[in-house]
Amino acid sequence: MNQITQGMDRQYSDSERLAARARLASGFNTTDVPWFTWVAHHIPVASGAKVLDVGCGPAWFWEEAVAVLPEGLHLTLFDQSPGMVAEAETRCRPLSFASLSTQVGDAASLPFPEASFDAVIAMHMLYHVKDKAAAIAEFHRVLKPGGTLLVTTNGRNNMAELYALTTVFGSAPRDPAGEAFGFDRAKGLLKSEFGNAELKIHPATMRVTDPEVVYLALTSYPPGDTAPPDQKAAFRAAIQSAFEAGSGAINVTKEVGVVFSRKAA
Ligand SMILES: C[S@@+](CC[C@H](N)C(=O)[O-])C[C@H]1O[C@@H](n2cnc3c(N)ncnc32)[C@H](O)[C@@H]1O
Repeated sequence: MNQITQGMDRQYSDSERLAARARLASGFNTTDVPWFTWVAHHIPVASGAKVLDVGCGPAWFWEEAVAVLPEGLHLTLFDQSPGMVAEAETRCRPLSFASLSTQVGDAASLPFPEASFDAVIAMHMLYHVKDKAAAIAEFHRVLKPGGTLLVTTNGRNNMAELYALTTVFGSAPRDPAGEAFGFDRAKGLLKSEFGNAELKIHPATMRVTDPEVVYLALTSYPPGDTAPPDQKAAFRAAIQSAFEAGSGAINVTKEVGVVFSRKAA
């Protein structure tokens, strides 16, 4: 088990730790179109379509996506964390969907009949799944012929300047999500199941100006979350030095994207 699949219950019992990472990932971007809105523009659905969101988390995505997507969607929110599903339901219930249903379960064993959905989305979740090929086979099974899968993930160089500082915890100097399920791996696995896969990278850069946001985000998951006090102090010092070297800010590489596959009609 690598660090990205450890302590999932602790990680995702609710959205608090994820929120620490979201503040870093989306709080300092320079981009014309914010991430969730950009992804929503790429979901090819018409009014009345059935959409499954696997690993929905707290469903922050849907608050932005409703402004972009057609009205009249039938949305199913799915996650292995009961706390996330409860929060997602509370967030999405007031939004204008034709219907909303929620279910707790594992992506590698979906409780839906085959050919149930026009689109399946799995945003920033497959890097946590041990048997990724099994989950992707499930996404293919539940899609209707001609339906689309959208998977989002990070590239290996995502926020490289910040992950370089996490070596004080014994971590590799890279984004663990990009390491476990980067763009090439995502494209390869989707292509083996669907026969096609296309990558689009979100056009964004980052200039981070708040050291505390960096500290909280990168100590929100293993092994930094349970690191001993001397390692945490060393991490704070490393962040401080990096900000001083950049005169109070760090320019950070951003690599985040979406891989699409279409099920044969
Ligand atoms: C990083 S969060 C992403 C949340 C949301 N999709 C987003 O992009 O904001 C990962 C989510 O995937 C869920 N997850 C991880 N492994 C899963 C699995 N095998 N089956 C279903 N959900 C899973 C976690 O509980 C968590 O809510």
